[in-house]
Amino acid sequence: MRLLGYLSSLAVLSCFSLVDAVVPLSSVRRVSSTNVVPGRFIIEVADASQIPGKRSITNVHDLVFANLRKRGVNFKVDKQFNHPGLFTGAAVTLDNPSDIAQVQDTTGVVAVRPVTLIPPPKPVFSHVVTGPTDPAIPPDSESTHVLTGVDKLHAQGITGKGIKIGIIDTGIDWTHPVLGGAIGPGNKIIGGFDFVGDAYNGTNTPMPDDNPLDQCNGHGTHVAGIIGANPGNEFNISGVAFDASITAYRVFGCTGSVSDDILVEALLRGVSDGQDILTMSLGGSDGWTEDTVSVLSSRISDTGKIVTIAAGNDGDFGSFYSSGPGNAIDAISVASLDNTVIPLQNATVHGVAHDPIPYFELFPLNTTDSLPIFATSTDTTVVDDACNPLPDDTPDLSGFLTIIRRGTCTFVQKLTNAAAKGAQFVFIYDNGSGFAAIDTGNFTQATLIQAADGEFLVSQFAAKAPITISFPQIGGLFNFPDTSGGLISSFTSYGPTNDMFFKPAVAAPGGNILSTFPVPLGVFAILSGTSMATPFIAGSSALLMSVKGNSPAVGKSARTLFETTAQMVASSHTDGDPLQTVSQQGAGLVNVFNAIHTTTIVSPGELLLNDTAHFEGTQTFTITNNSPQPQTFKLSHIPAGTAVAIAPGDIFASPGPVPLTTQFANVRLSRTSVLIQPFQTASVTATITPPSGIDPSTFPVFSGFIQIESATETLHVTYLGVGNALKNKQVTDNTSELFGVPLPALLDSNGNVQNGTVSYTFVGADFPTILSRLTFGTPLLRVDLVSPNAKIQTTLNKRATPPGTFSSVPILGEVFEFDFIPRNSDATDAADNGFSTFAITTPTFTNGTTIPNGQYRLLFRALKVTGDRNTEGDFEIWLSPEFGVEVPK
Ligand SMILES: *[C@@H]1O[C@H](CO)[C@@H](O)[C@H](O)[C@H]1NC(C)=O
Ligand SMILES: *[C@@H]1O[C@H](CO)[C@@H](O)[C@H](O)[C@H]1NC(C)=O
Ligand SMILES: *[C@@H]1O[C@H](CO)[C@@H](O)[C@H](O)[C@H]1NC(C)=O
Ligand SMILES: *[C@@H]1O[C@H](CO)[C@@H](O)[C@H](O)[C@H]1NC(C)=O
Ligand SMILES: *[C@@H]1O[C@H](CO)[C@@H](O)[C@H](O)[C@H]1NC(C)=O
Ligand SMILES: *[C@@H]1O[C@H](CO)[C@@H](O)[C@H](O)[C@H]1NC(C)=O
Ligand SMILES: *[C@@H]1O[C@H](CO)[C@@H](O)[C@H](O)[C@H]1NC(C)=O
Ligand SMILES: *[C@@H]1O[C@H](CO)[C@@H](O)[C@H](O)[C@H]1NC(C)=O
Ligand SMILES: *[C@@H]1O[C@H](CO)[C@@H](O)[C@H](O)[C@H]1NC(C)=O
Repeated sequence: MRLLGYLSSLAVLSCFSLVDAVVPLSSVRRVSSTNVVPGRFIIEVADASQIPGKRSITNVHDLVFANLRKRGVNFKVDKQFNHPGLFTGAAVTLDNPSDIAQVQDTTGVVAVRPVTLIPPPKPVFSHVVTGPTDPAIPPDSESTHVLTGVDKLHAQGITGKGIKIGIIDTGIDWTHPVLGGAIGPGNKIIGGFDFVGDAYNGTNTPMPDDNPLDQCNGHGTHVAGIIGANPGNEFNISGVAFDASITAYRVFGCTGSVSDDILVEALLRGVSDGQDILTMSLGGSDGWTEDTVSVLSSRISDTGKIVTIAAGNDGDFGSFYSSGPGNAIDAISVASLDNTVIPLQNATVHGVAHDPIPYFELFPLNTTDSLPIFATSTDTTVVDDACNPLPDDTPDLSGFLTIIRRGTCTFVQKLTNAAAKGAQFVFIYDNGSGFAAIDTGNFTQATLIQAADGEFLVSQFAAKAPITISFPQIGGLFNFPDTSGGLISSFTSYGPTNDMFFKPAVAAPGGNILSTFPVPLGVFAILSGTSMATPFIAGSSALLMSVKGNSPAVGKSARTLFETTAQMVASSHTDGDPLQTVSQQGAGLVNVFNAIHTTTIVSPGELLLNDTAHFEGTQTFTITNNSPQPQTFKLSHIPAGTAVAIAPGDIFASPGPVPLTTQFANVRLSRTSVLIQPFQTASVTATITPPSGIDPSTFPVFSGFIQIESATETLHVTYLGVGNALKNKQVTDNTSELFGVPLPALLDSNGNVQNGTVSYTFVGADFPTILSRLTFGTPLLRVDLVSPNAKIQTTLNKRATPPGTFSSVPILGEVFEFDFIPRNSDATDAADNGFSTFAITTPTFTNGTTIPNGQYRLLFRALKVTGDRNTEGDFEIWLSPEFGVEVPK
């Protein structure tokens, strides 16, 4: 998990390295690639009332700890959680991690989950602004409020007064003048707590204190400004709910990660401090709804608090890659919407009358000179301009703006050739109708312009016109109408979850957001990401509660209100293209004005159809007319594009943007029009069938809306399902695609695929490592030791093993077990979750018992989604080659 900010929509094109070549095995580090903290666990214990015969026990912790000690388990209690009804338990460090099996079996223990690490934010893009004349200031920072009706609510004096929001983040610079400049009762920032201290990095000891001040990271201060920036500042920005009361819970140090037990502590503290709303702009790939923080966030939502959580910035990795804790079933997971305009720079043309030339940069090219131009070709149809070294008679290009046509080779190749002749400032003009950020490597003074502008410049160069170009250092920024404006940001992670909940729930603006930043770090900054969309919904929630009250009933109604009154978002601006899949847009872009003022109440907001094996095709929803007039509602089906989740003919997810088809579900409504008297309710039944004629092996995620329209209001319910049984989805990669060798594989002590029978001493680096890659999430991944002669029917990369069943094979002992793990991405490195390694560094079973010397195989089993843990046919099975354990005596 990580903070979900800093990812610029402008930088998205170059921020992931997707698989296009085989990765050398030598790049694989032989360490286990998990985010689990060794030896640390969060144990959840039953409420005292749930322990038979123990109703009188007041401290259930003591009972459980006593039971553990009785079993000889030695442990240290790091934290106790005591919130009956929400979370009772403890974070513990075991002296012997293998005692975990005993902990699981202890009376009163209901769940044990490993403590996991949440990595730090990836600083991909952030810009600290220098002042009101900074060229990077978005010209219209209020456009996000206009898009969502927040401006109209502010005009009505609705500003979130009296509502309490807890921000769980890197802390807040409460000295910031636009955030009130103080902390404590009576201020905007009414309080907070620092759970970690500046020096905390996830692995060292947290040093808590009462002051959540952040003057070294900045993320939380930016989030706070989106909710609470006071209007009347030099940038003319304001928070969505600038009269709400904010509490800062600091869970990250200046750099590094945080362990999730600290998030549990922060959430529980937020509840006991009486926050109405808790917001978390953080998370990591997960795919499941079961991790500790997701489970707790959902329980908190069920009590009527509003919990908003970022959907994640992994849109490039395609479907079924939702983020935890954003997966929390009853919380609100938030997608990002691209603003309708992109702030881009204009260059000025001198010597010839011509309009300014837009170029795809947030910042001006760094020169105050007016540069003459040099085109590497005067042919504006050339397909491979500057792909080869430039001719010898090319002049020194250092004083020119070099003009090159796009095509054939990479931008970096062209720029390298131009740089060999001294070029520094380069315009690459498009070879079609494209206009986007391009990957120029470390050539920072090169950028893309549109085809027509490039052709104009080349014609002027050919005609030897006296043309020069300058790059205004101030005032060159303007609002280019964004071709993807009003669309879901491509970086937004796609759901659904592996258990078919739709995440994200709703969208809010999250790209190029100007907000507050710690005073020592620059006062204001522009950041992008679902991190920025999430506080927008937290602020919107405060507006809702400030009008309707902060009761649990209002809290519980919030997600449905936001969903049913949201605006459906298209997948492109091309006529005839379908709406964006619900698995990326959720129910659409929030319209806070409509959510608050609607007189029609529709519920539920989500129709979860599940997979074809658990299909819930008949769904009922109700419409309540809370207006004093009778209203006639017309009902209609508006499908969204069907997401081709798995690439056709492949076992891997289609990378984002996920292709959409127009094969839609069929929706039959029990009525298409209904007259409802004032303050009466009617119900409608929808019978939904999956699209026909679509390849089920692509696991098509179909979705859409049932629109409910009166003379004055338009609402919708949102449905989502998948056109196959998820149990049919292969979860383990058995191809050679990534490493050129079939997976899973057993790596030897040199990191090569084990060849023949090898024995390991487990001295130094002499141990085996399993290398695997999941093409889909699995509820259970287990590796056990078996005899070399075990007769097991494998399903993956079958070797010549005689048929048999694993229930009849003696399992010698368990070596690894992971519950509810996400699929891998299509990145080429372990850091971006491209593959997983399980290093067997010591010859021990998970219970700590030593594996005796001898000959063995490893039995690798991955349970398919919705599969039964006791049914062999529901697992994918691989048997490793035989190997010896030969620990020297
Ligand atoms: C965290 O900080 C400690 C020192 O307090 C250092 O030893 C450790 O290497 C750091 N860990 C990381 C991941 O940076
Ligand atoms: C500030 O924003 C308001 C809208 O919220 C707009 O009417 C006004 O013109 C803006 N002022 C400046 C100086 O940009
Ligand atoms: C920027 O250039 C475009 C295209 O020539 C033009 O329409 C726009 O008015 C210019 N804006 C500014 C602020 O120069
Ligand atoms: C712009 O160029 C000047 C001189 O080459 C350099 O000192 C400065 O750091 C550069 N500014 C940026 C933002 O790169
Ligand atoms: C432009 O160049 C790119 C990269 O070589 C190529 O994929 C694309 O087809 C070209 N477009 C046109 C319209 O020629
Ligand atoms: C440019 O970036 C590459 C890596 O992408 C690096 O190897 C190279 O040294 C860099 N060149 C310069 C001049 O910084
Ligand atoms: C879909 O069905 C599976 C299997 O019964 C279940 O675990 C899961 O919770 C269901 N999902 C939803 C959204 O109801
Ligand atoms: C495996 O070992 C055999 C015999 O030592 C050798 O001929 C063969 O090339 C090896 N295969 C690989 C893939 O290294
Ligand atoms: C640990 O597991 C192994 C293999 O299943 C078993 O033989 C051994 O008895 C277990 N040890 C304990 C202490 O439970």
